[in-house]
Amino acid sequence: MEQTAEKKQVIFSGIQPSGTLTIGNYIGALRNFVTLQHDYDCIYCIVDEHAITVRQNPADLRRRCLELAAIYIASGLDPKQNLIYCQSHVSAHAELAWILGCFTYMGELNRMTQFKAKSAAHEDNINAGLFTYPVLMAADILLYQTNLVPVGVDQKQHLELCRDIAQRFNAVYGNVFTIPEGYIPKVGAKIMSLQEPGKKMSKSDPEDTYIALLDSPDVIRKKIRRAVTDSDGEIRFDPENKPGVSNLLSMISALTGTPVNQVVSDLQGVGYGELKNRTTEAVVTALEPLQREYQRLIADKAYLQSVIDENGQKASALATRTLRKVQKKIGFAPRG
Ligand code: TYM
Repeated sequence: MEQTAEKKQVIFSGIQPSGTLTIGNYIGALRNFVTLQHDYDCIYCIVDEHAITVRQNPADLRRRCLELAAIYIASGLDPKQNLIYCQSHVSAHAELAWILGCFTYMGELNRMTQFKAKSAAHEDNINAGLFTYPVLMAADILLYQTNLVPVGVDQKQHLELCRDIAQRFNAVYGNVFTIPEGYIPKVGAKIMSLQEPGKKMSKSDPEDTYIALLDSPDVIRKKIRRAVTDSDGEIRFDPENKPGVSNLLSMISALTGTPVNQVVSDLQGVGYGELKNRTTEAVVTALEPLQREYQRLIADKAYLQSVIDENGQKASALATRTLRKVQKKIGFAPRG
């Protein structure tokens, strides 16, 4: 991160290296990381500790961490301007999470909808980490005195809990943590499944329900052609009654930077076939440069490793500052 005369505000966000990234991750989060990078000091974490709340194959997890670093950079994030690193390389995350866990109520964690959904999906492995996941997420954010957190709408509840924990801690110990705000995009904060448009698009669902960031143009075309719409044939933005059509309209709007109303009026008089063609075009055009850059970067593992090593050290220095302050406030014995 470059030193500037005037201190910029801090952004923190993270993505799990737990599978193929989808166009939902891109529209809801990643592309906003890129837009915001010039105006803030940005920290973009590869949250591998969050990923192990669900069983991971070790070799796959290791590979995906470097792949996610490549995706971050390929999407346009400059690793000299932004801290791109692995959560597990900065032990302060886990240490602060323990402390914050002592300021979080079971009742609060019990209310988390993501915990309920994930425990239903992994009935054989409802582990304590899955339950305390939002506490680790709060530690991620609060360690860096974060002002703004760009995320999709599914993370809103976790972010609110983070703010509650920080306020509770500050009320006892003084102004230790900055209270973060969410940055949730107006369009595309929740991209829906192509097959069940009432449900969020998710990388843990079957292949034909999501567009992966690295899908070829052909695969993207096929998946969008098979996307579920409805039978009234009218192109109108109405997520409640026309979730499939509205989902495609949101993707076009977000990816082309055109207001939804404008997209809708541009498409008056055409059928769903043309709506799908336009969606495909918007997705392929947005992903083409990212995919090209990704292929170049992923061939250079040594470079990617050096990025996460150097940035991990810088992140560690920043995080340790907050952690030491917290430890002192709590009353842990000073270090000699
Ligand atoms: P994760 O890895 O599930 O998703 C990464 C980001 O992508 C957004 N997202 C979506 N946005 C729109 N439509 C969708 N269908 C869609 N699917 C995913 C998510 O909202 C997220 O912004 N707990 C977080 C990772 C995390 C984090 C943090 C985020 C850990 N620590 C601290 C912010 C700050 C998660 O599981 O994201």
